[in-house]
Amino acid sequence: MARSRPASRWTLLLSLVVLIACIVVPGLAVKHENFKTCDQSGFCKRNRAYADNASAQGSSWSSPYELDPATIHFKDGQLTGVLVKTISDTEKVYLPLTLSFLESGAARLLVDEERRLKGDIEIRHGSKVNKKRYDEAEKWVIVGGLDASKSAALDGQSETGSTKVLYGPEDKFEAIIRHSPFEVEFQRDGQTHVQLNHQGFLNMEHWRPKVEGKDEESGEDESTWWEESFGGNTDSKPRGPESVGLDISFPGYNHVFGIPEHADSLSLKETRGGSGNHENPYRMYNSDVFEYELDSPMTLYGSIPFMQAHRKGSSVGVFWLNAAETWVDIVKKSAASNPLSMSAASKTNTHTHWFSEAGRIDLFIFLGPTPQALSKTYGELTGYTQLPQHFAIAYHQCRWNYVTDEDVKEVDAKFDKYQIPYDVIWLDLEYTDDRKYFTWDPLTFPDPKGMQEKLDASERKLVVLIDPHIKNKDDYYVSKELNSKGLAVQNKDGEVYDGWCWPGSSNWIDCFNPAAFPWWSSLHKYDKFKGSMSNLFIWNDMNEPSVFNGPETTMPKDNIHYGNWEHRDVHNVNGLTLVNATYQAMLERKKGEIRRPFILTRSYYSGAQRLAAMWTGDNQATWGHLAASLPMVLNNGIAGFPFAGADVGGFFNNPEKELLSRWYQAGIWYPFFRAHAHIDTRRREPYLISEPYRTIISQAIRLRYQLLPAWYTAFHEASVNGTPIVRPQYYVFPDDEEGFAIDDQLYLGDTGLLAKPVVQENTFTTDIYIADDEKYYDYFDFTVYQGAGKRHTVPAPEDKIPLLIQGGHIVPRRDRPRRSSALMRWDPYTFVITLDKNGEANGTLYVDDGETFDYERGGYIHRRFQYRESVLSSEDISTKGAKTAEYLKTMAGVTVERVIIIDPPASWKDKNSVTVIEDGAKAGSTASLEYFEQKGGKASYAVVKSPNVGIGKNWRIEF
Ligand SMILES: *[C@@H]1O[C@H](CO)[C@@H](O)[C@H](O)[C@H]1NC(C)=O
Ligand SMILES: *[C@@H]1O[C@H](CO)[C@@H](O)[C@H](O)[C@H]1NC(C)=O
Ligand SMILES: *[C@@H]1O[C@H](CO)[C@@H](O)[C@H](O)[C@H]1NC(C)=O
Repeated sequence: MARSRPASRWTLLLSLVVLIACIVVPGLAVKHENFKTCDQSGFCKRNRAYADNASAQGSSWSSPYELDPATIHFKDGQLTGVLVKTISDTEKVYLPLTLSFLESGAARLLVDEERRLKGDIEIRHGSKVNKKRYDEAEKWVIVGGLDASKSAALDGQSETGSTKVLYGPEDKFEAIIRHSPFEVEFQRDGQTHVQLNHQGFLNMEHWRPKVEGKDEESGEDESTWWEESFGGNTDSKPRGPESVGLDISFPGYNHVFGIPEHADSLSLKETRGGSGNHENPYRMYNSDVFEYELDSPMTLYGSIPFMQAHRKGSSVGVFWLNAAETWVDIVKKSAASNPLSMSAASKTNTHTHWFSEAGRIDLFIFLGPTPQALSKTYGELTGYTQLPQHFAIAYHQCRWNYVTDEDVKEVDAKFDKYQIPYDVIWLDLEYTDDRKYFTWDPLTFPDPKGMQEKLDASERKLVVLIDPHIKNKDDYYVSKELNSKGLAVQNKDGEVYDGWCWPGSSNWIDCFNPAAFPWWSSLHKYDKFKGSMSNLFIWNDMNEPSVFNGPETTMPKDNIHYGNWEHRDVHNVNGLTLVNATYQAMLERKKGEIRRPFILTRSYYSGAQRLAAMWTGDNQATWGHLAASLPMVLNNGIAGFPFAGADVGGFFNNPEKELLSRWYQAGIWYPFFRAHAHIDTRRREPYLISEPYRTIISQAIRLRYQLLPAWYTAFHEASVNGTPIVRPQYYVFPDDEEGFAIDDQLYLGDTGLLAKPVVQENTFTTDIYIADDEKYYDYFDFTVYQGAGKRHTVPAPEDKIPLLIQGGHIVPRRDRPRRSSALMRWDPYTFVITLDKNGEANGTLYVDDGETFDYERGGYIHRRFQYRESVLSSEDISTKGAKTAEYLKTMAGVTVERVIIIDPPASWKDKNSVTVIEDGAKAGSTASLEYFEQKGGKASYAVVKSPNVGIGKNWRIEF
């Protein structure tokens, strides 16, 4: 939810504020003038100019940074030294450097500024801000993976002028550190994959005193050093210019992915102009960019500065851990013009240039070599996706707003009447009493408990909005406590910061303050948040933070947070800190109630995947926004935050029925599947849509519910090894160059399910790209598609979702439609099997109670299914724990009711039964098998009925 026309109650109030009035006029184009281009951002412009100057001088350019060889030490997997920046013969700046080699195979480069570490600088305007460069981002972001490598060692072969370190698995990685100019080259198996400062763009703007009149004298353009104005706001910049920049090159790599969030293609574009390229760098500065535009490098609500470079046979990556505003330029050059890059695989080098407004250089380098290895290593550092409660992966029904508790109950009843499953209904802003969070509007929501009880009757949930801006009002106890406890963000003068947001005049909770955590927790307790029940969960919106009258719709950069850090230093992790506090609060709502929290966040940074789901913010009901949602969700997945989705139907405006139904057919492939709509739109709950669309939408939602066992298994995998829940083509086929740029089709986990949603109007076929020479089967009618490296035309009439299954898979599903996913808990399973070229198939299933943390103590079922040599078997791949037996007991009655084998051997025509063996004993038994012959390009299939083997048991079915 976001801006646009405010609800009537406070229109009057708002219209008094001229500044805001001009922002809230509805329209359908992003307000470009609200957000900076590179040219309007001092440090962006300076770093680009620095790069241009270096490039213009070509080989005569020499980076003024050198690593003083006398300072280099190597101990316990860590190289330390002092980087010296030469300004003139007499003026040098000392920059302590560490290059750590980690057990995981990652390397970490940290560069700080000596004078600032020592506090030996003066801050202007008498400001109390911290003198250091911000060094606490890792406190919020990093949760592991920092163990130093035990085997990393200096390479005795180092030549003069460089230091070499061997590290990584079997010491196959090598870092070559050149002293002067400073440059680092990372090799794997003797080949260079990543280069730092190879282009000489390394730039640490050191602290310096402001000298009046110096500008004119030295000829240096200081216009953006000491003060910067934008959109009527002036940034006082008490520490002057302090940006950090570095170029990172990927020789031989043609594709780079990652660095969400942008509404752009998965394969990132070049950013320095030219046909089809962007003019501006990709920007990461979490902002409330409502009505955002497509094919753009503009910043959006969240940032993950993790980039992957990919070519045939290799994936490498970098993670730029900096919480300040960050931009990334990308340029691709033909390798022919650069004889230094010797890659057989590709003729292109990709050069990237990263710069942040403040903070340290803190860079992780990953040498892969596969996309999966990157997911794993990055996840070790920043954490894996939380395993959500099961309801959270089902269908969510939201709009701004369900207007009364009776309205909610009616929507609930209508879903049942039309037999459309859903799990969660959402309340946006308007449920509160006068936009005071932790309260209910007494007129429209007089009986929140009755409403939640009604939902609970079908085990459904309620999610309500709680934002970080607190209405500034004396009679509001939350506001009083915020101020009396001193937990609010301060302005540059050290007073409580007051800005405008939904409630009008507001203050912001400062979650950087450890004391904010217990207070925030206390507000969520049932006796404090009266009317809330245990089936209520939380939506943290506007946490960039969005401030209607702030620069670029956010807080002034010179605001001050706990620890005297400037908002500038911490901006991009700000949203994450709120979600962290909410997560903690949800764990502590009631003593003894230990369940997995569910939180949706709009703003995020690396690490948010441990805490919440995200959505792509305020999109629009257009075909373009539908299409853009797929690369956006895929990109979030490969960047380690796969629990992602876009507002189904589009937030702004009214979708045509065709668009809405196609959006549902696409939305069921978002890991986070929620419909949402703006307050000014017409109601569009699925049951309101006329036929045939109502049925089309219901069928799509039911397909999601049918496949929930496969989804939950994919979520489990993401939670243990970081693999995306929906995966792009290159991730599944990393050696197939044809597929690298494909971002409009996706694979669900390891299931072999390949979906290509229709995202164009009036389109009734689609072309699905198939990389390998396995057979692919249409999910619904088993039409066979085969042929590697080609696009295959698949029919896609309005009621059909283009969906194939690759040969070689066993897909678990549940076929009995229910009102909510919780009611499917004890339902039997169906397996769908497709055989590969060798007549074999594999699959897995993960199940647990979907609610508690018992799975951490063995309370789950994890099975591998295999089909080979005419036997389908189920094997236990779990690790036993204290809760295993108890959980297995609850699941004892849950069985397999059907097995469907697509394209079985023709000899099965004459077969009519199979042998069923459970727990080693013949459980009496045979089960019937029926063979169905098909023609005209559709595969035959066979169905085993009621084998009735237990889902938690070892069993075999012999065909
Ligand atoms: C470009 O770099 C040279 C050093 O090689 C320096 O003297 C000059 O001031 C730089 N120009 C600009 C515009 O930064
Ligand atoms: C929340 O942040 C704290 C640091 O303040 C960190 O120790 C903790 O792990 C975070 N919680 C989660 C669930 O990530
Ligand atoms: C099935 O699993 C086995 C053992 O893990 C593996 O060797 C085989 O390649 C897999 N087959 C398919 C089709 O994935």
